[in-house]
Amino acid sequence: MAKLWAGRFSKEVDETVNAFNSSIAFDGRMYKQDITGSIAHATMLGDCGIISKEDSRQIIEGLQGILADLESGELELDPTAEDIHMFVEAELTKRLGDVGKRLHTARSRNDQVALDIRLYLREEMGEIRSLTAKLLHTLCDLAQQHLDTIMPGYTHLQRAQPITLGHHLMAYAQMLLRDYDRLLDTEKRMNYCPLGSCALAGTTYPIDRQQTAKLLGFTAPMANSLDGVSDRDSCVELANALALLMTHLSRFSEEIILWCSWEFKFIELDDAYATGSSIMPQKKNPDITELIRGKTGRVVGDLTTLLAMLKGLPLAYNKDMQEDKEAIFDAIDNVKLCLKTFTPMLATMRVLKDNMRAAAARGFINATDCADYLVKKGLPFRDAYKITGTLVAACIRQGLTLETLPLEQYREMHPLFGEDVYHAISLDTCVRERRSEGGPAPESVRRQIDLTRAQMEAW
Ligand code: ARG
Repeated sequence: MAKLWAGRFSKEVDETVNAFNSSIAFDGRMYKQDITGSIAHATMLGDCGIISKEDSRQIIEGLQGILADLESGELELDPTAEDIHMFVEAELTKRLGDVGKRLHTARSRNDQVALDIRLYLREEMGEIRSLTAKLLHTLCDLAQQHLDTIMPGYTHLQRAQPITLGHHLMAYAQMLLRDYDRLLDTEKRMNYCPLGSCALAGTTYPIDRQQTAKLLGFTAPMANSLDGVSDRDSCVELANALALLMTHLSRFSEEIILWCSWEFKFIELDDAYATGSSIMPQKKNPDITELIRGKTGRVVGDLTTLLAMLKGLPLAYNKDMQEDKEAIFDAIDNVKLCLKTFTPMLATMRVLKDNMRAAAARGFINATDCADYLVKKGLPFRDAYKITGTLVAACIRQGLTLETLPLEQYREMHPLFGEDVYHAISLDTCVRERRSEGGPAPESVRRQIDLTRAQMEAW
């Protein structure tokens, strides 16, 4: 494709350099945003008398035609074009002749690309938020069904204290609420318009940046033209929010992988969301969650790519910045894929409640409650802790549990023990009595669900 900047050059650019320089293979996806930005720019140029109203009208119509033709497939992106901005402008000039050449007055690709990327990210973030909200709804629904599904809670992956599946799920809901909020926050800071920064130093034309910012749905124009063309904070912030969101999905995935194993067998994935082995006929593998765990590394890499790309760049625009797109697009694409797969996988999994409960019944996870029983009868916690530890050791020696240890042995350890100890250390009591705010008792988890749903409605 012929170069729009050909005037200064006496030779064609080397073909390898052309291919090396070109970004249309990946920025072509911003065609809609590029055209939307150009329409706002042309409107403003006409309104400010920088180009004639008639030229402005023709340019807008021409751009709308290009958009329609790209959408219908009648017009295809030229892979030899330098980038999407050059492609659209060249196509416009092809259609309109000299009028098309007026579009780029008081603008540079530097503010144009900064604008396009913001418009693109804004749209994608909206979609990622709604996918996150879907997952949150699924978590709340599942948690509601599992308010009484007792399972072991772990620290160091050792059975620690009894909780419920509902409680466990709502922990992830909290992380995702923060992820959602981070996206909203990033969006808020991102929503300032770089258009009108031009190449770096603004322009001598009497442009109206307030108008273009408003037309494009931004809060205001960016305050400094150098910053306007060289800032990529929004890409970094978004990549950070996405890397953290993925990290949460990855931790959850890791647990699902464990829960699917024969060693745990807490859940079974629906056949539609698991895969088999090419050689071992018995296998049912949690590939989705493993891929999510794997892709998390990739999204963390995207964030690192962006930070490393930016850290040494002098103001203002540098071509290094072209590298922002592949990284942030990769993060966006993969997060969307993961959310779209993870949510239905979760919604359709079968919970093996009996196995969860059986696991909770082993491992002395009610030992804290046994100690608390003595504390409630007046003993200092440290003494109660020691007595219970000795009882656990006695159980291990005899192959017993705290539930099956005879009352005489309890009494030998301390006379404060009575028949009611068995009630106090039963799994159901242990969970039901943990009513503290944020705890696993059904009423406490119900409150967490209500608050989460209320928060989502407020958004
Ligand atoms: N394709 C370029 C990018 O993605 C567009 C901006 C080019 N500007 C320039 N002065 N060469 O960053």
